[in-house]
Amino acid sequence: MAKNKNYLSGREIRAIAKENNKIMKRLEAYKNRKCDESEYLTEMKDNKNILEIDSLHTYFFTEQGVVKAVNGVSLNIPKNATVGIVGESGCGKSVTSMSVMRLLQGPTGQIYSGEIRFNAKEEDGSEKVYDIAKMPIRDIHKIRGNQIAMIFQEPMTSLNPVFTIGQQLDEVTFIHKKGATKEDAKAKSMEMLNLVGIAAPERVYAAFPHELSGGMRQRVMIAMALAADPRLIIADEPTTALDVTIQAQILDLLRDLKDKIDGSIMLITHDLGIIAEMADYVVVMYAGKVIEQGTAKEIFHNPMHPYTIGLQKSKPTLKSDSDMLFNIPGNVPNPVNMPSHCYFKERCDKCIAKCSGDYPGMVQVSPTHYVACHLYSEEEKNNG
Ligand SMILES: Nc1ncnc2c1ncn2[C@@H]1O[C@H](COP(=O)(O)OP(=O)(O)O)[C@@H](O)[C@H]1O
Ligand SMILES: [Mg+2]
Repeated sequence: MAKNKNYLSGREIRAIAKENNKIMKRLEAYKNRKCDESEYLTEMKDNKNILEIDSLHTYFFTEQGVVKAVNGVSLNIPKNATVGIVGESGCGKSVTSMSVMRLLQGPTGQIYSGEIRFNAKEEDGSEKVYDIAKMPIRDIHKIRGNQIAMIFQEPMTSLNPVFTIGQQLDEVTFIHKKGATKEDAKAKSMEMLNLVGIAAPERVYAAFPHELSGGMRQRVMIAMALAADPRLIIADEPTTALDVTIQAQILDLLRDLKDKIDGSIMLITHDLGIIAEMADYVVVMYAGKVIEQGTAKEIFHNPMHPYTIGLQKSKPTLKSDSDMLFNIPGNVPNPVNMPSHCYFKERCDKCIAKCSGDYPGMVQVSPTHYVACHLYSEEEKNNG
């Protein structure tokens, strides 16, 4: 193999690894610190939003180097809206949601920098804004599971096999509603099972997770997420593990709930078809970055980034449980060693000279539509 000029000596590599290890430990200590709430109270940039992710960097400190899984993501989730996050496998969708929920596996997985501003509701109805990225992990119970709930891809891994559905659902009410009685909890659980369209709620209430089908379990998971009346629901590939007919039912349910609940949904999927049916706004991610965002109408009728255009041209397969949806040729660059130019350059069929230069900045094309691509930068428009 030809020796390239960026080649590092063993000594240099070890020095970098040592430095990275130091940073990881410092971040872990920061996460475990004890501090006053005032340290992480903040303000929303726009009070119409429930969540504002601002320049988020989430890294994994591995033996092979630092994986910049989320590399400067900014996005907003407005109140009472559904925001779809789309991109092919490995682009950082789940790591973004795990950062918001603070469920990253430490000490390797760490929020390195950025803000995650969340507009929380107090019991007296007033609002309070937390920077989730700065919250010590011991305080995260203030929001996780109550103000923000999550629906995972595989419900079996999130349900406890040794407790009945009823016990697990009641538990949500016990944790989040102070002074709730057994009767209160059961009433709420039954209400939620009804809400998610379970026909025999009494039977499901008494059942163990393994006694239910995949679709039923996912309904239960959704019921569980709803039981705490969250302001924000994060659904990460909520239908990917289900077969096609059940997928459609669960999507119908989510769409229905969107109107019933007084909250927002962050819907993560690699399937543009799901986004088209559900989302008010769309965020397109590629290799740890947001490359385009806008209203669903803008993204579907006027996609601008060559990657977004490519996604839409990719024909969905009948069974969309794999990333076969994406047939744009080429691979995502190595996440440990990202180039300084546009990450999509090697796969792009619309490259111009500028694409070998710096990573493109976000260009605003409407009050709500943004794209990170040199084709649309001011200079380019003037020249063209
Ligand atoms: N625990 C981990 N250790 C190292 N790298 C990880 C870990 N979890 C995720 N990653 C990397 O982070 C990137 C983003 O992953 P992820 O957010 O799961 O993608 P997706 O968009 O498919 O949800 C990928 O390159 C993945 O390999
Ligand atoms: Mg994922």
